[in-house]
Amino acid sequence: MRKQIAAANWKMNLTYQQGEKLLDDILTAKIPLAPHQQVIFTVPYPYLIMANSAVANENNYAVAAQNCYHKKSGAFTGEVSTEMLQSIGIKYCVIGHSERREYFAESNQQLAEKIDLLLEKSIQPIFCCGEALSIREAGTQNNWVETQLKESLFHLQPGDMEKVIIAYEPIWAIGTGKTASAAQAQEMHEFIRSIIQQKYGTAIADNLSILYGGSVKGANAGEIFAGPDVDGGLVGGASLVAEEFIAIIKALK
Ligand code: 13P
Repeated sequence: MRKQIAAANWKMNLTYQQGEKLLDDILTAKIPLAPHQQVIFTVPYPYLIMANSAVANENNYAVAAQNCYHKKSGAFTGEVSTEMLQSIGIKYCVIGHSERREYFAESNQQLAEKIDLLLEKSIQPIFCCGEALSIREAGTQNNWVETQLKESLFHLQPGDMEKVIIAYEPIWAIGTGKTASAAQAQEMHEFIRSIIQQKYGTAIADNLSILYGGSVKGANAGEIFAGPDVDGGLVGGASLVAEEFIAIIKALK
């Protein structure tokens, strides 16, 4: 069975001490997890080492960076390379979050470069895609997402594509309290899987974890995750509250 993943995205929230406490509250809940279920904490750069050591003895828990730079190394003040992430033992990295695309003008091409640099360092990309409200209203969301996938991922060889995790996050549902319906999420996830299947075949498409993101909370996670092509969630606001995120983890299939 493909991995079912509850990924927390803390974004630019919490102090170091609050982050430590949140991890502790979640880990001490000792949630029973099956081997195919995984929890990933996507934390700010300065907390990566702390978070990684907090989960070091846990089988189903891992840590992700929220971003990385699209160049290998050099004079890029303030940026963080994939080699740096690898050197502190990070195994996952979120890229292409809609907030980075919007506020930092990240392009599909830059994301393709980031994907390559991550895979080169054995870090699994959690690749975000998703449409704005105007695109959804125009009914062209499938084309939009297909282009994001094609321009950032379709240069990959099959052996690399199978390491990618996809997060579908409709922008109109992020932080708005307005969740896509379970049916809307399932419909897009099924479409994404079909696009991957056409290019990479059934085995890779069937194994690909596709997470939903956008106002997931304890109360709606079960319904959303029930979609056969929805393999868990990438969670912002609700991942900052231990009881909420614990409920989301428990809702994994
Ligand atoms: P919210 O869960 O706060 O809507 O954020 C979703 C998200 O952007 C996760 O990456």
